[in-house]
Amino acid sequence: MQLTLTVVKADIGSVGGHTQPSQAVLKTVREVVDANRSSVGILDVYIGHTGDDICLLLSHPRGSDSAAIHELAWTAFRKGTQEAKRQGLYGAGQDLLKDAFSGNVRGLGPAVAEITFEERPNESFILFAADKTEPGAYNLPLYLAFADPMHSPGLLLKDEIGLGFTFRIMDVEHTQGDRIITLSAPENLYDIAALLRDTHRYVIESIWSRAHPGEQAASVSTTRLRNIAGRYVGKDDPVALVRVQQIFPATEEVGAPYTLIPFVSGDTRGSHNMPLCPVPINTAATVFYCVPIVSGLAFSVREGRFTEPADIFADPIWEEIRRRATRKAVEIRRQGFFGCAMLPMSELEYTGIVERLQRLDAQFVIERSEEAA
Ligand code: 13P
Ligand code: MG
Ligand code: MG
Repeated sequence: MQLTLTVVKADIGSVGGHTQPSQAVLKTVREVVDANRSSVGILDVYIGHTGDDICLLLSHPRGSDSAAIHELAWTAFRKGTQEAKRQGLYGAGQDLLKDAFSGNVRGLGPAVAEITFEERPNESFILFAADKTEPGAYNLPLYLAFADPMHSPGLLLKDEIGLGFTFRIMDVEHTQGDRIITLSAPENLYDIAALLRDTHRYVIESIWSRAHPGEQAASVSTTRLRNIAGRYVGKDDPVALVRVQQIFPATEEVGAPYTLIPFVSGDTRGSHNMPLCPVPINTAATVFYCVPIVSGLAFSVREGRFTEPADIFADPIWEEIRRRATRKAVEIRRQGFFGCAMLPMSELEYTGIVERLQRLDAQFVIERSEEAA
């Protein structure tokens, strides 16, 4: 059967700061989905949270960009926001930046990733959800899984995978439409790397099999909240779906690059470079600064019905990775605002620092002018 996986994520309010959604808000979101799922043909649902972001994973036969599916997610988050307001949660409705639904949640604030495919008899996929970071945070882990044999041995060991993958990379600075470049690994490897190094601007939007054209391997949400709001309202906190096994990299080939705990932008006030720390699902954001976190859930799905998820960052091996992340975070964050610990001005310009610098600019005096001399 043709199946679509849709994941929609939103921060609609959290307990005591940007920590985690309340149980009441999660319950409200679940109730709205449960009450309406059969009328729009939803086959299965998973709801969880990573930090203060709720992710709603839906399986259905309606295809990507289905207005009915998007509207249900929007309604669930709107109703959840009402509950968040009733409870006095912090940042209630934070990611719902527009009032009216107009056929698609893209452009309204929530992050969306979708894949439509002919379901395999043993369809396996991973849902990633990150908090306190931006969509480009997935650039490196996905590049390593789909283009680097040092991390992904399947690229050498299996012909179908070794034919490589096609990357669709979006210029997220371009706000009047989707500006996309399509490049294939391995022959365009250096071009892909040259773009992906700039995580603020170039974001992997999707990855496709070359051995089986039309088979989509990965989908990443590309929403940048600041592009919609025009100011800093919270970090984008992206989600991604990655199909695994057989014609795609194995689950462990997609998971292992997270051992690198790369520095990504995000953290407190979305303004720092900090390591991306892998955590179990339903983990609260930490007051250890507000270190960027990512969770990963592997599912099997048959005729649209999910198994229980396998939480890929929950096993004891990842404790060691988390300790390394802690050490990396302490080292860089100790230098506070200084140098590369804080983001460049191009990223900070959506925050209040702009007014401060404007004020200071007016106080500069030219003491020795070339013109006067
Ligand atoms: P979120 O983007 O997760 O809401 O966090 C915002 C923030 O500024 C935390 O310091
Ligand atoms: Mg928040
Ligand atoms: Mg968040």
